[in-house]
Amino acid sequence: MNNDNVKNLYAICSAKWYNPFMRVYNRLVLSRAENEMVVFLKNNLDETKTILELGCGTARNLEKIYSLDLKFKKYLGLDFTPDMLNIARNKFKKNSNVEFQEKDITKLDDVNEKFDIILCIVVLSHIKDRPDFVNKSQELLSNDGSYFLMMHTKPKWYINWLDPFFKFFKTNLIPGKEIQKFKNTIRMNKYSGNLITTVVIHK
Ligand SMILES: C[S@@+](CC[C@H](N)C(=O)[O-])C[C@H]1O[C@@H](n2cnc3c(N)ncnc32)[C@H](O)[C@@H]1O
Repeated sequence: MNNDNVKNLYAICSAKWYNPFMRVYNRLVLSRAENEMVVFLKNNLDETKTILELGCGTARNLEKIYSLDLKFKKYLGLDFTPDMLNIARNKFKKNSNVEFQEKDITKLDDVNEKFDIILCIVVLSHIKDRPDFVNKSQELLSNDGSYFLMMHTKPKWYINWLDPFFKFFKTNLIPGKEIQKFKNTIRMNKYSGNLITTVVIHK
């Protein structure tokens, strides 16, 4: 996937389309997978935990964490689209333990910190070498850390007619054989006719 095409997509209307669109898409497609994420967050977060979100976008998932009243020590959100980050930063200006950085998440060699929780939510379909990305990024987990991924995957045949929609959104539907290459997977679940897959990785 060409990075400039992805950035240009999310920069449309200064990214103002994204949150309203996701409210609808969430209801139609993501809600059951998101429920699993909520359980994951409730089971894993407390005031001692640090969070890294890869491809944080407009910080939709951090809003979720706050709405659930879950505590954490520190949150770092990385994304390469400035317009998405502007929206995220505006939401959390006053939160001193929240930081956003403009960064290509396929280039993480200069991140020297380890994190207790890593989140990567509906981002992987934009990345070229997914198994390599997942296996490298999980090196940023601290001992006993947990990584939660939600991704678009090859659906059952009756959803194939949605292909042009995903092409427009620069979204590659990930085949199962790629997911099998992710190291240290302890759980995988499929939702919405297999269109959405969640993976939990433990260090
Ligand atoms: C569908 S949005 C998901 C945003 C957020 N995770 C959420 O759940 O709302 C995909 C995000 O991934 C970001 N992204 C895609 N490829 C990236 C890369 N190589 N480096 C950094 N961010 C990337 C895009 O800029 C966009 O904000």
